[in-house]
Amino acid sequence: MIETSDMDFGDRVVDPGYTGDDNDIEYSLRPKTLNEYIGQDKVKENLAIYIEAARRRNEPLDHVLLYGPPGLGKTTLSNIIAHEMGSNLRITSGPAIEKPGDLAALLTNLSENDVLFIDEIHRLSRAVEEILYPALEDNALDIVIGKGPSARSIRIDLPKFTMVGATTRAGQLTSPLRDRFGVIMRLELYTREQLCDIIRRSSMILGIPCDADGAFEIAGRARGTPRIANRLLKRVRDFADVIGDGKITKDLAQIALDRLEIDMLGLDSLDKRMLNMIIKGYNGGPVGLETLASALGEEAVTLEDVCEPFLMQLGFIARTPRGRCATKLAYEHLGYEPGNQSDTGQLSF
Ligand code: ADE
Repeated sequence: MIETSDMDFGDRVVDPGYTGDDNDIEYSLRPKTLNEYIGQDKVKENLAIYIEAARRRNEPLDHVLLYGPPGLGKTTLSNIIAHEMGSNLRITSGPAIEKPGDLAALLTNLSENDVLFIDEIHRLSRAVEEILYPALEDNALDIVIGKGPSARSIRIDLPKFTMVGATTRAGQLTSPLRDRFGVIMRLELYTREQLCDIIRRSSMILGIPCDADGAFEIAGRARGTPRIANRLLKRVRDFADVIGDGKITKDLAQIALDRLEIDMLGLDSLDKRMLNMIIKGYNGGPVGLETLASALGEEAVTLEDVCEPFLMQLGFIARTPRGRCATKLAYEHLGYEPGNQSDTGQLSF
């Protein structure tokens, strides 16, 4: 099995991307069935129907595309799909499949009904994508032998399989690839209550004493993302063990999360720098993403995939055709009067 990581967005505790540190807990905490999976109710209900229908027909599930911000459980869902279908899961990612031959090797090694999970599927090259089309549509691999006028193509039959593609950027998928998925599902950020349930479940599995108020406090600062919630749970446990009596309560969670510089809403220093830059550097916007990224010395993709979905969910940022604008709510959260901030003295980002 090939396993590669999500995009790496740096070393923030609230980074929703996968980090090596998540490896051990993500695996042990990952729900194995749809019943154990908390949240994403619409996705779960529909998937349950599709899986049941495929099983009754004794066929593999249609190809599934999962999209949405990082850390919401796309890999977990692909595990569940394989488990519920009684199939094996193969995991790879767009950047790991460099050449058409890499994909051909993967496909020819599949067994009947396997689930092939391709993370960051928007990062497949065009040459690799073209191998995928007949594989997805006709369960066949077209191989070209020779070059020039004497080149000829032979077709190899592949076992029937299900591909699960995951992406944070559905808009970057080419339409021929998108059209080959029978099921397209968008994952949403989780509510505080759902994250609280996830934290309670995780603390039970890991044997971490955590009361309901402690879990609720962590959930409120986990920016709608289970991966962050589970990571914060681990960090708060460290504080509970060293400066407390090992139990996670509301007070202890508040102390720990304040020390981690994650504010009441889950904003960390990068989110605040981004908002400050829009408000003070660009008078509230609009400002283009690339301009913002270079002013902050960050990658545009980090701002777009990590900060923005959450800041937009909070209603702190509006995306307009001319760029990003900070909203009145953002001004209020950072303690500014809505209006002109560009002449309020020294800028600090
Ligand atoms: N752990 C991480 N994500 C989860 C989810 N959606 N449900 C239950 N446990 C989880």
